[in-house]
Amino acid sequence: MMKSSQNSTSFSRRRFPSQFNQPTQTEIWAHRGFSSRFPENTLPAFEAALEIGVDGLELDIHRSKDGHIVVMHDYQVRRTTNASGYIFELTLDELKSLDAGQWKGRHFIGYEIPTLAEVLSLVSHWNSPVTLNIESKSGRITYPDLESDAWQLVKEYHMEHQTVLSSFNHLALQQFKQTCPDASVAPLYWEGLVDSWLYAERLGAPAVHPFKNAFNHEVVKACHQHGIRVHAFGVDDVRTARRLIAWGVDALITNHPDVLLGIQARP
Ligand code: G3P
Ligand code: CA
Repeated sequence: MMKSSQNSTSFSRRRFPSQFNQPTQTEIWAHRGFSSRFPENTLPAFEAALEIGVDGLELDIHRSKDGHIVVMHDYQVRRTTNASGYIFELTLDELKSLDAGQWKGRHFIGYEIPTLAEVLSLVSHWNSPVTLNIESKSGRITYPDLESDAWQLVKEYHMEHQTVLSSFNHLALQQFKQTCPDASVAPLYWEGLVDSWLYAERLGAPAVHPFKNAFNHEVVKACHQHGIRVHAFGVDDVRTARRLIAWGVDALITNHPDVLLGIQARP
């Protein structure tokens, strides 16, 4: 369902530090779209997640040979398309000619690799505001200026207040913040981080994105005391989700948004 009026949400306004003592509902973000049911990181996967009422979408970005920002998880196209090769070796036309759906099932044949602009267009026209979590994959393969070019696109779609840019490459986030100081960034990490709230503050990040097992309740409380949101990824089972919700984690990033939406009473 497309919206009729301008988006009004704000990522940074979702919860102020002073509000962290108030109970708020944990958001459910669809990891690579509704990826347990649809081919990950495709427009139908994102639209399906929006249709079931998620609060946010997560996606991964790379750059094509001819400079376009495209949405895919892996550095190579082999796993999720009918071809092989690195994304940086292929032009947008070549990437668009690939089938990004059939690996998931015959009824998904014909799905395309989307550009970031296509996803931004979809989300910016949606009838209810959601958070967009763009993960930069610049790291093992370096895509110069990927984050700032992505943010420029985000601004063209007037979505900077509902977007958070995350990465496992914290140096890239730090450099990006120097060129776009107002942008919301979040460091991703798999293992426990000492004083993650101080680390986030040093990066100028309003949130941290830890793996589900990389933190505990005390960390959530400390982050909230410092006005830092906690968005946990890899949350695909109900038992873990219930525990993190009880801790007040701000968002759960999941391949099963339908299941996690189902365990919450929603207004
Ligand atoms: O954003 C969390 C998660 O997407 C990070 O891991 O490998 O799925 O991109 P990965
Ligand atoms: Ca990701």
